[in-house]
Amino acid sequence: MVLTSKSEADTYRIAATLGRFLVPGDTVLLYGDLGAGKSVFARGCAKALGVKGEMASPSFTIMQPYEGSACKVYHFDLYRLGGADELYFSGLEEHIGTDGVSLIEWPQQADVCPDRRAEIDIEKTDDPEERRVEINLFGMDARADRIFAALSELG
Ligand SMILES: Nc1ncnc2c1ncn2[C@@H]1O[C@H](COP(=O)(O)OP(=O)(O)OP(=O)(O)O)[C@@H](O)[C@H]1O
Ligand SMILES: [Mg+2]
Repeated sequence: MVLTSKSEADTYRIAATLGRFLVPGDTVLLYGDLGAGKSVFARGCAKALGVKGEMASPSFTIMQPYEGSACKVYHFDLYRLGGADELYFSGLEEHIGTDGVSLIEWPQQADVCPDRRAEIDIEKTDDPEERRVEINLFGMDARADRIFAALSELG
């Protein structure tokens, strides 16, 4: 499904709508250039899972954990990662697809791709406030229909 986001608030709303349906073991892979809006999307998902307060940039820590009211939320930013080995040696990959919802920016840096996942591809457009947001769901079975229905209603 492809949506057009007209603002940061729009992207946040799209993400929060997806976030309402996420459960522990789910992974959201966030693709897109620098400044595309991956962190905005991660914050929207986290908010829907009951994470309170500010979310720091995890850029210097690989992963920042949060305690949401719904479940644990792990925010990964793999931009500076040297490769897949670094993630595995860190031991942090054990959280992906297991005890919480993982939101992962730059997943291609470590070839992260669990079976059950939402792939989000955010692309800039000619309009500086507009983004093309592509959402593909894998391994989510019946939930996928409900998620796409809720996203369609955003208009
Ligand atoms: N429609 C939009 N959706 C999301 N962000 C937007 C939009 N229009 C403008 N922006 C701006 O784009 C920026 C997105 O920043 P963000 O940190 O989320 O990007 P990112 O993809 O996480 O980048 P990085 O790869 O550096 O982590 C913000 O400054 C935000 O205000
Ligand atoms: Mg970011």
